[in-house]
Amino acid sequence: MSEIEPCTYVIFGATGNLARRKLMPALYHLEVAGRLPKNTVILSISRQARSRDEWIKAVHKMIKTQARGGISEAKFKNFAQRLHYLQGDLGDQKLYSEMSRLLDKSDEFPVNAAFYMALRPAEFGVVAEHLKSSGLSKEEHGWRRIVIEKPFGYDLESAQLLQRRLHKCLDEHQVYRIDHYLGKGTVQNILVFRFANVMMEPLWNRNYVDHVQITHSETFGIEGRADYYDQAGALRDMIQSHLMQLLTLVAMEPPASMDAESLRDEKVKVLKSIRPITPGAVHAHAYRAQYAGGMVEGEKVNSYLEEQGVPHDSSTETYAALKLYIDNWRWRDVPFYIRTGKRMAESKSAVSIRFKLPPQHLFRNTAVEKLQPDWLLLGIQPYECLRLEMQVKEPGLEMRSRTTSLDASFRDEYDELTDAYEDLLLDVIEGDRTLFLRYDEVEWAWRVVDPVLRVWAMERDYIQTYPAGTWGPQETRRLFEKEDQFWRHSLIPNDED
Ligand code: BG6
Repeated sequence: MSEIEPCTYVIFGATGNLARRKLMPALYHLEVAGRLPKNTVILSISRQARSRDEWIKAVHKMIKTQARGGISEAKFKNFAQRLHYLQGDLGDQKLYSEMSRLLDKSDEFPVNAAFYMALRPAEFGVVAEHLKSSGLSKEEHGWRRIVIEKPFGYDLESAQLLQRRLHKCLDEHQVYRIDHYLGKGTVQNILVFRFANVMMEPLWNRNYVDHVQITHSETFGIEGRADYYDQAGALRDMIQSHLMQLLTLVAMEPPASMDAESLRDEKVKVLKSIRPITPGAVHAHAYRAQYAGGMVEGEKVNSYLEEQGVPHDSSTETYAALKLYIDNWRWRDVPFYIRTGKRMAESKSAVSIRFKLPPQHLFRNTAVEKLQPDWLLLGIQPYECLRLEMQVKEPGLEMRSRTTSLDASFRDEYDELTDAYEDLLLDVIEGDRTLFLRYDEVEWAWRVVDPVLRVWAMERDYIQTYPAGTWGPQETRRLFEKEDQFWRHSLIPNDED
């Protein structure tokens, strides 16, 4: 059992999607792993009227379908002892007075508290203000932390407004901004791979790297989230947040140490070095499209415009691709291509790094007519891999080459599987902010995409489409700087476009 102090994990929006699909299962898995400190309680808050028993039954149902290896009734019994429920309205001071009473006066509720806002972003400010006015945010007898999830604003200006509102109520050290991508083991592995080995470091720069690609594609559509998604679009939903974080990990300099501030300082330096996209350059640097109807994994699926809740004339992008340059010594003039899309050919996240060709083609007069470049492939999900593709001689009398790969497997068959939220929920109670975003990271990431969003917002009458179940429009090729660059869809050698 860990030495961490117990806390009250307050979950606002406990009956919502995020809490049901991610938070409750993650907390249960932490229980199973013996990682929840003794006496920690989980106080769920929602508008719906429920007794404690009814809530425990509801949570049992959530866990039953999602527990890895099936639910353990004995573990759930322990978990259930931690579960409490409070009905209330987020805008009603009574809710906060009742919470205050529980945290300050009841022995059952530890005084340290994490407030997880599994809410719409528009509600963050209201809750923070009530936490302050009721004294719940004061760290008099124990720590008080709030956890919020993206989107942190809608653009640079709204992010700044949200930040000002939050900071009137809380200190920065109390705010934990989650980017669940950073909780993924394979994403953290980028840091280990880069900074626990010396081999790649000499190659990790503009002298050897031709370009970097970061991809997150999904076969599914918006899954009933039209309300949110139609306002957000792919650039805000994935690129400004998750994929920009991946880019910082790939591109950053080695931090002075692995503590939260050193790491975040280096990430911010990368974001600050990204060459601003001027309004006139948006079309050369950014591409957007929306899915039309098509076939996904053998099934006919609707177009985005036919999804429930999407306005019939929406021009929101479900596919976005960006070309960025990082103007520093390490990366100047190396393009970073980032793309994401819904209803694409495959669900996959990966970082693919293509190296330059050797400076001299020594095999010109042999059967090795065309040299293939080397690639480093970091598969994030669902296929986790770390693979270096290189050229070797084909056996036989001719001087021919073929691509082979060195595989550094990330996971052994029996290694434990965990969900990103488990790691992050635990970090909150341990007070480890390394994997959470500091405000300046959020702000600088908005600065990168804001010019694109502004131009796209003015061009609302037309958007290119792509058939669902494909890799997106061919026209995205125009982002590539060189003829021989192409989207690397597959992590298998020679299995390209
Ligand atoms: C979320 C986005 O933040 O991340 C979703 O809002 C997206 O649109 C999801 O599907 C992807 O995360 P993961 O972990 O499911 O790949």
